[in-house]
Amino acid sequence: MKPKNKIIQGDTFRILKKFDDDFVDLSITSPPYNKGEKHKGWLVKNVKYNIASDNISEEIYQEQQIKVLDEIFRVTRPGGSFFYNHKTRWTRGKMLHPIEWLQKTKWTIRQEIIWDRMIAANIRGWRFWQIDERIYWLYKPIDNNKIGKELKSKHALLTSIWRFPPERKNGHPAPFPLVLPARIIYSILDDKKGMVLDPYVGSGTTCLAAKLLGSNYIGIDISKKYVKDAENRLKNYLNYKKIVDEEISKHIVEKTFMDRKNGNGNTGKYRKGSIIQSNLL
Ligand SMILES: C[S@@+](CC[C@H](N)C(=O)[O-])C[C@H]1O[C@@H](n2cnc3c(N)ncnc32)[C@H](O)[C@@H]1O
Repeated sequence: MKPKNKIIQGDTFRILKKFDDDFVDLSITSPPYNKGEKHKGWLVKNVKYNIASDNISEEIYQEQQIKVLDEIFRVTRPGGSFFYNHKTRWTRGKMLHPIEWLQKTKWTIRQEIIWDRMIAANIRGWRFWQIDERIYWLYKPIDNNKIGKELKSKHALLTSIWRFPPERKNGHPAPFPLVLPARIIYSILDDKKGMVLDPYVGSGTTCLAAKLLGSNYIGIDISKKYVKDAENRLKNYLNYKKIVDEEISKHIVEKTFMDRKNGNGNTGKYRKGSIIQSNLL
């Protein structure tokens, strides 16, 4: 089947199994991180989902993620992308890196983006406060060409470090901010419209961004409550238009490479204000 503009309730792997091959243009997701449900520190609430457990054996967790990632590969058209938000974790001092299981999937890993959330959840001193998450850009090659097309400069200039805070005004325990999927959809699809999938859709943020940018969407979540909440959020999608418009306004080319080379003041690589002022580099 090829659903369109639907939020589907159920286990994502089972639902994805029913989908046709090669019809999704772009997927974006933040899966459950399997972080355990206790000892999250005092700054934020524990992440406790309505239905799903976030505390299973790490081996089983990674096996399940690989299966879901490969199903998404199957339903994605060649040339399509998948942005997978995750983070580095530790279990009893041993580091767990998403690259461990991503390399076992069918996807080509195109980029690792750092998401600087500017806030730490667990303020303890075993490590420097972890305020970053990662976003993996995964790519399904066309005819084995793993390089693919270039991004337009106005998108690529946003750099591989994204700085915005996590979402706060949302009843879901672990939503990402609307700017995150908005940036991805606008950069990858540009002015084209496509089919955007989120296999762990939670409060529906990815679908909201897709709708506001004129694309079609499919969301999947195991929790009936979250599906209902996401559907309600989508009904009121115009309330969120300002956030997406603001993100779009950041996708500009202020100076071409030639302008910079000719010495018109700003000789830095990065757009002023995007990360660090260029004269500091
Ligand atoms: C990190 S949250 C996603 C939040 C989402 N990005 C947002 O902005 O609201 C992960 C979601 O995965 C859902 N989930 C967990 N296991 C699932 C499964 N097996 N199938 C489908 N959804 C699942 C949870 O209910 C939760 O809403």
